[in-house]
Amino acid sequence: MAMMSRRSFLKGAAAAAALISVGGVTHAVKQGAFSTGNGPAYEPWQTWTDVKEGDKPLLRIVQASVLAANAHNTQPWLYRIEDRSIDLFADISRNIGTIDPWFREMYISHGCAVENAELAARAYGYRPDITLYPGGLERIHVARLSLEAGTESPSELYRAIGNRHTNRAAYDSAKPVEASVLREMERLADSLGDVRVVWFADGAGRQEMGKLIVGATEAVANDAIQSADSHRWFRNDWSEIQRHKDGPTMDATGNSAFTRFIGKLFPVSEQTSNEYWLKATKNTYVATAPVFGTIAIKDQTDRVQLMQAGRLWQRMHLWAVANGLAAQPLNQPHERRDRELQLGIEPVFGGELARLVNMPGYEGVFTFRLGYPTSPALPSPRRSAEEVVLGASKPTPKD
Ligand SMILES: Cc1cc2nc3c(=O)[nH]c(=O)nc-3n(C[C@H](O)[C@H](O)[C@H](O)COP(=O)(O)O)c2cc1C
Repeated sequence: MAMMSRRSFLKGAAAAAALISVGGVTHAVKQGAFSTGNGPAYEPWQTWTDVKEGDKPLLRIVQASVLAANAHNTQPWLYRIEDRSIDLFADISRNIGTIDPWFREMYISHGCAVENAELAARAYGYRPDITLYPGGLERIHVARLSLEAGTESPSELYRAIGNRHTNRAAYDSAKPVEASVLREMERLADSLGDVRVVWFADGAGRQEMGKLIVGATEAVANDAIQSADSHRWFRNDWSEIQRHKDGPTMDATGNSAFTRFIGKLFPVSEQTSNEYWLKATKNTYVATAPVFGTIAIKDQTDRVQLMQAGRLWQRMHLWAVANGLAAQPLNQPHERRDRELQLGIEPVFGGELARLVNMPGYEGVFTFRLGYPTSPALPSPRRSAEEVVLGASKPTPKD
């Protein structure tokens, strides 16, 4: 768990004293300091298996799909439901700017959404045939699930959909992840073509990847434009969370209940947020990680391969949660690699990433840590399926 600094403690004590006044309590309630995981922004986690009268039968599949992992909780998706198919479109307006200049993370996020949709479709008695569409930036139709009648087969991964949350707290550093667990997770890639996982579980590899992640975090924080593009999505105010239903929040930081309570009382500046993030990356994310992993594909300009990488991540994270493990993506080295390419500057992080991944013919596109949790992860906000399904009243994007 992240240690609280003396300054934050004093700030906390002062805040607690201020709360004794009635005005303070009112402010805390308004900020949502007493609430965790409540309100419409969190309802999709509670109602994802529900069928309401009048709903399209396939809506339940989208209800599962929107709970997928996705970069910065931007939820860059729109769906179209037909009688026997679901189309997935990229909502490019929800991109993260210089954090993701080549849409690597956006397409990986789509892959995560496709995976949840497939698992739900099988659970509800459909046989999904999945098409992932290649195409450049101009083509926003990214995937189609054609659904034939099949037999209901809810899998272990399907059952984990509502319990999967990114865990940013400390992991149990005394409890290593056994090699047999890593092998089993790797096998989840078997049906996905040219997608691989590279593990950093031993002393030297783990240390080097950890160092790269911390260095890249510093570089993102020191890049004024990247830092602003990232911070823009952070939601701290209760009403803002309920209105937008997206973005990273205080409850998703993995901090203790007390720290989150204090954190919700005040607006969090970009600088404070970066300072916290860097400290947490060094002292918690990296310091307590028993193992890092990187998902690698043959060509990171290939959208289908990126989506396959996303499907693997969703599978691995669901599998991890179903088997008592915790996971957190740590994509800063990739974000710097992409930024270096965008700026045409020396590929410092890109070069080091390629050296560490060291798999001829493959490029790392997504890095994460894995371990046993010391505390449960909390849910992030979501827009409901109804809010992201293109209806008669909403325009359908052109393929
Ligand atoms: C492509 C991609 C990149 C991500 N990168 C990071 C990251 O660098 N650091 C992090 O803490 N979480 C990262 N995440 C996790 C998302 O922030 C998380 O999935 C999102 O906020 C929703 O929360 P949930 O996974 O708990 O539902 C990433 C997720 C995806 C799919």
